[in-house]
Amino acid sequence: MDTRALIDGLGPGEGALQPRARYRSDAAEIDLGGRWRFAPYERALDAPEEPARGDAEIQVPGHWQLQGHGAPAYTNVVFPFPVDPPHVPDANPAGDYQRDVELPDLDGRRVILRFDGVDNAAQIWFNGREVGTTKGSRNTHEFDVTQHARPGVNDLRVRVVQFSATSYLEDQDMWWMSGIFRPVTVLLLPEESLGDLRVRADVDPATGEGILRVDADADASVRIAALGVDARAGEEIRIPGVRAWSPEDPALYELVVAGAHESARLRIGFRRIEIRDAQILVNGIPVLFRGVNRHDHHPDRGRAVTVDDIREDLLLMKRSNVNAIRTSHYPPRPELLELADELGFWVIDEADFESHGFSELGERRNPVDDPAWRDALVDRMRRMVARDRNHPSVIMWSLGNESGAGRNLADMRAAALELDDSRPIHYERDYSFRYSDVFSLMYPTHEAVEKIGRFETVTLPRHAVILADEGELSGLDAKPFILCEYAHAMGTGPGGLEEYQELFRHYPRVQGGFVWEWFEHGIAYDAGGARVHGYGGDFGETVHDGNFVADGLVSPERVGRPALTDLAQVFRPVDIRVGENRIEVENRFERSSTEGIAYTVTTLLADGGEVDEPIEIPVARARETVTAPLLTRPDALLVTVSARLAAASAWAPAGHELAWGQRLVRLPDPPAGADAVWAVDPRGISAGVVRLEGPTLGAWRAPTDNDRATRMVELRGGVSDAGSWKKLNLHAPAVWTDPDTGERRWGFAGRDVGFDERLALEPVDGGLALDARLTPRGPWPEGQTLARIGHDWVIPGAGPRTRVRWFGRGFRQSYPDTGAGARLGWFEGSVAELQEHYLRPQDNGVRAEVSVLEIELGGRRLVISGEPFSFSLRPWTDAELDAANHPHELAADTGRLILSINAHVHGVGTAACGPGVLEQHRLHPREAHLALRFAISR
Ligand code: GAL
Repeated sequence: MDTRALIDGLGPGEGALQPRARYRSDAAEIDLGGRWRFAPYERALDAPEEPARGDAEIQVPGHWQLQGHGAPAYTNVVFPFPVDPPHVPDANPAGDYQRDVELPDLDGRRVILRFDGVDNAAQIWFNGREVGTTKGSRNTHEFDVTQHARPGVNDLRVRVVQFSATSYLEDQDMWWMSGIFRPVTVLLLPEESLGDLRVRADVDPATGEGILRVDADADASVRIAALGVDARAGEEIRIPGVRAWSPEDPALYELVVAGAHESARLRIGFRRIEIRDAQILVNGIPVLFRGVNRHDHHPDRGRAVTVDDIREDLLLMKRSNVNAIRTSHYPPRPELLELADELGFWVIDEADFESHGFSELGERRNPVDDPAWRDALVDRMRRMVARDRNHPSVIMWSLGNESGAGRNLADMRAAALELDDSRPIHYERDYSFRYSDVFSLMYPTHEAVEKIGRFETVTLPRHAVILADEGELSGLDAKPFILCEYAHAMGTGPGGLEEYQELFRHYPRVQGGFVWEWFEHGIAYDAGGARVHGYGGDFGETVHDGNFVADGLVSPERVGRPALTDLAQVFRPVDIRVGENRIEVENRFERSSTEGIAYTVTTLLADGGEVDEPIEIPVARARETVTAPLLTRPDALLVTVSARLAAASAWAPAGHELAWGQRLVRLPDPPAGADAVWAVDPRGISAGVVRLEGPTLGAWRAPTDNDRATRMVELRGGVSDAGSWKKLNLHAPAVWTDPDTGERRWGFAGRDVGFDERLALEPVDGGLALDARLTPRGPWPEGQTLARIGHDWVIPGAGPRTRVRWFGRGFRQSYPDTGAGARLGWFEGSVAELQEHYLRPQDNGVRAEVSVLEIELGGRRLVISGEPFSFSLRPWTDAELDAANHPHELAADTGRLILSINAHVHGVGTAACGPGVLEQHRLHPREAHLALRFAISR
């Protein structure tokens, strides 16, 4: 095949063996990872007919764009080239890979070359003979090269093109990056190998009887020592008393399948998946997905992730109470599924298919409905199912993502069921749901979820579900409902998590969802010594979608954002309600008791001390609520009850906190003030070395991605919150002071709305009392929101190292609709530590429900106390924060700090992609009152 045929071919790859299960056997394997020779071409069609042994070197697995050849490019929906299927532009980068492969004496063994992932299409030569092609970037392809192989050195060459016809099937929202990005392996298989292995490990939930059948391509014995099973492949075996597999109890059994010449070891789990009464049941019990969508990502290696990378992801997920993963939007490295089996996750395994870009063109020529693409699509489905079907963690197969509706889905579904009829099929983007066993939507509003929970007909206006055509969804009554994506975790946010979770818990039909998404896909680069995480547009792309690629719960360096802290508490497996003299614990595990949990009570005392003690709480069975008495000390301010792992688990050490509950008895007294003399002047207030300039009105914030709602505005029109703030020039307040009354009238450039303020600053026993009443004035537009209502102060001479301590929610940020993971207490840190550096700077770091705030200034301690308020403290004004496109563009030290003290704050919602701020968390013009005391503490 010539390179042009490789590029233009609509079909699957050629020459590969039938797909089969991935398992470990005693056959020899040679990992071909390492340095390969490389010859890059700007245009694939300029490459010589024979693949080259290039002068350059390249790391395999890896992407060439991250190794000095070309650059990564990011688009979300839109294709980065003209849509003219099957053609792709002539400017189609390619690369020839070469490496020597040392083979031992073959002794009649077969030589199989296995490619786990090559983006986008490849042609393979072994010792100068072409052996086949790969298509389906995230699918495994095996080639039998026995007849061309010899002991000693062999020459392996692979030509990879960046784009081919099948790029039209791979329009996932991620970086366009190419190359051999997953392992390449040589397998030396005996002439009679086990071939494909198919394990059916069913369990009857009523009797606990396991029903096992293992099929192999060769005659083989089947043994599970732990269960006393000794049988033959192809036999159905009934095994009493098996321990069923679930994420809460990922019970695996070692299965040995031994043929005459090859023996394999698999870890299997018994479980039965059924759909009954509009619910997905596993082992007879309904599941609730506390899920996340996960892509492969690494800031330096892109999608070339290692098993250790994946393990770290999954451990962090487990520690955050996540129990489900959707492998958006392609099959993962196969090791992910082994880890999911072992650690315990439900997995929706998704085929490598997304043709979202056609939605921009009214779905004209979408491959999903064109028979010419049928074989390619069916091949993708078969390769995934055959590879992954033995994993107990896989609970559903997904036909792909956002590929529209069309007849090829029927064949994909049939192909999956032919290989495995034990699991339901998922597909979201065909709103008839005729090819999906579940009803699934992305980004539905809370209101829509509630209606669906009640089996009411929902209309999908364009603003309820993105991209869905307007129309009614009914007749789906038999189907369980899941949110394959929700709570778009882009920048500050997402707001509304707890409200979703309440719906999931309330309506049996609504079986949870998958937060979008795990990673921010920032790609690291060096900017004058700073390690920067780039997003769309940072690599010279002419068409791109900016920072929409950075919408995850964890930073590119895999550090949890505040959203992950929140999610862990929203997904809490036990709900702890602390009353005056008793504790109530609701077990939210689906199947497990709370036996493995130890509880502690931490009491914060009026004198600032803290007492920690264990407490006995009866064991609660799954979904049961238990109570225990609690004696609260008379000098208690705050009681926190934590549920912790009593013993180490496979994913966290003993003592790991699973959940917590609190009761505030009363607020702490602020520390006693020193006898400082406060001076008030027209520009600010001072007490000795401590100086604050202001206060000015704060009604704006550096818009968050959710405030900007770029994508939603693009889809639905209308104005975002940030847009409406801009329209009123909330960022440009100015004041007129009434010379007679001293009353301040705040307004915004060019507008006639504002706030009237009565501000009193008066010395009180060693401190200064501030009393501010802000009353909205003027014809505010209907439904108008404000980012906040509060005061901004400038503190000269302070910087990122300035220490701060507060009583309120912490340590991490909280907004009215976020911060489930931010508990009440005393917290301290530096100003630098208060900042959350999102890839695109935006408002962040607000701490809520604060009643005492202490800031160390010039060796003294400024104490601000009063009615609970929210604050932020940073070296930048909102305008400076807003103007920066990357964190390193903000000077670390600006010689001053901006302190914002807010009476009210607007929620953040998830309008970056999904519903905006819920009405109860929206801030409309309203009267605001700040009653504070400023003091210098001893
Ligand atoms: C969905 C899509 C995801 C991602 C998300 C927005 O439409 O399935 O891949 O693009 O929106 O970040």
